[in-house]
Amino acid sequence: MQYLIKTLFGLESVLAQEIAMLGGEQIEIQNRAVATVGDKALGYRLVYQCRTALAVLTPIKTGVVQNEQQLYAIMHSISWDEVFMIDQTFFIDIVCYSDLFRNSHFLAQKCKDAIVDQFRDKYGRRPSISKDGAIKINVFIKADQVIISLDLAGAPLFKRGYRLETGPAPINEVLAAGLIQLSGWDRKMPLVDPMCGSGTIIMEAALLSRNIPSQYWRSDFSFMHLNNFDPGLWQNVKEDARPRLSGAVPQLIGRDINRHFLNLAKTNAAKAGIEGIQWEKGDFFNYLPQSKMGMLLFNPPYDTRLSLNDAIQFYSRIGDHLKTNFSGWVAWIISSHLQAIKRVGLKPTKKIPLYNGPLDCRFVQFEMYSGSKK
Ligand SMILES: C[S@@+](CC[C@H](N)C(=O)[O-])C[C@H]1O[C@@H](n2cnc3c(N)ncnc32)[C@H](O)[C@@H]1O
Repeated sequence: MQYLIKTLFGLESVLAQEIAMLGGEQIEIQNRAVATVGDKALGYRLVYQCRTALAVLTPIKTGVVQNEQQLYAIMHSISWDEVFMIDQTFFIDIVCYSDLFRNSHFLAQKCKDAIVDQFRDKYGRRPSISKDGAIKINVFIKADQVIISLDLAGAPLFKRGYRLETGPAPINEVLAAGLIQLSGWDRKMPLVDPMCGSGTIIMEAALLSRNIPSQYWRSDFSFMHLNNFDPGLWQNVKEDARPRLSGAVPQLIGRDINRHFLNLAKTNAAKAGIEGIQWEKGDFFNYLPQSKMGMLLFNPPYDTRLSLNDAIQFYSRIGDHLKTNFSGWVAWIISSHLQAIKRVGLKPTKKIPLYNGPLDCRFVQFEMYSGSKK
């Protein structure tokens, strides 16, 4: 089977590594996606365990379409009752990059009609449509090429099910997992998010270091509603991925100046049953490290959703604090404030372009050598 795993811009290489670890073959990196091939179990593993995947698609038909009628015809040519039962609800997700078509909503209608008409002609009844439908069908059109795929997860995979409460500017779970993997954190050294908000980065680090599957808390995926669902295979996949602690867990510290945000983080971790994270209320500028080396990984306010009185001064204070007090440590900062991040005043050792939602960001590494390297 072919799989196309979608991700965020900049995370393709870490996603490809995850897919390789899960047994994917013929891995090919694309723009915001990685293609691979494998058996049905691989599909279940990709959904359950890929931390940097947003969606796992499996193409079922490709073709050429010049107009809506041809799109209807190609959708109608698929035997939908072999894919799912009439009592399931479904939803069409259209992604269209084509001058041949103007109205995506109308295209989705056409696709839906093709499926509904086919069921009605055959059974005299039709399946219902629902935005949260059990079956999610992805229709991707580029110029005159169409790929019709089943979305195996359904709801996007950044919805892990562990985060019930969020702060005002939470980072996407997939991005958080990607940042940790891009940083090269060894899963052993202390990891501190000194501005952790609702704690997503530290939670994703806890999942990674404890080998907890990213979808451990989710119980419903689209693939379970397909006719070809294999419950025994799914049980085996879950059993194989059962969290197993290997060695000591690393020290994880989430701190924030805002008690309310920190309480959200604590509540999320407690509800998920994740123990051993140090949650501390405090101002970063008064925080001193408790060990000789470690990693700081954080997204400070960008002055967009969370405002700052003086962003340039705030980032330059971050730099001063790092230089003065964190020698031997590595810091990774993600920010869309490209001017302010330059004012950290340390020489970046790595700079990775990423997006946080619509915001063009840089994920920047600073290494604080003893004696400071300006
Ligand atoms: C962009 S948010 C972080 C969001 C977080 N990554 C999440 O997923 O929820 C920035 C956080 O920095 C915190 N903050 C701002 N100034 C701070 C300071 N001086 N010390 C510690 N935390 C601070 C804010 O309270 C806010 O929670």
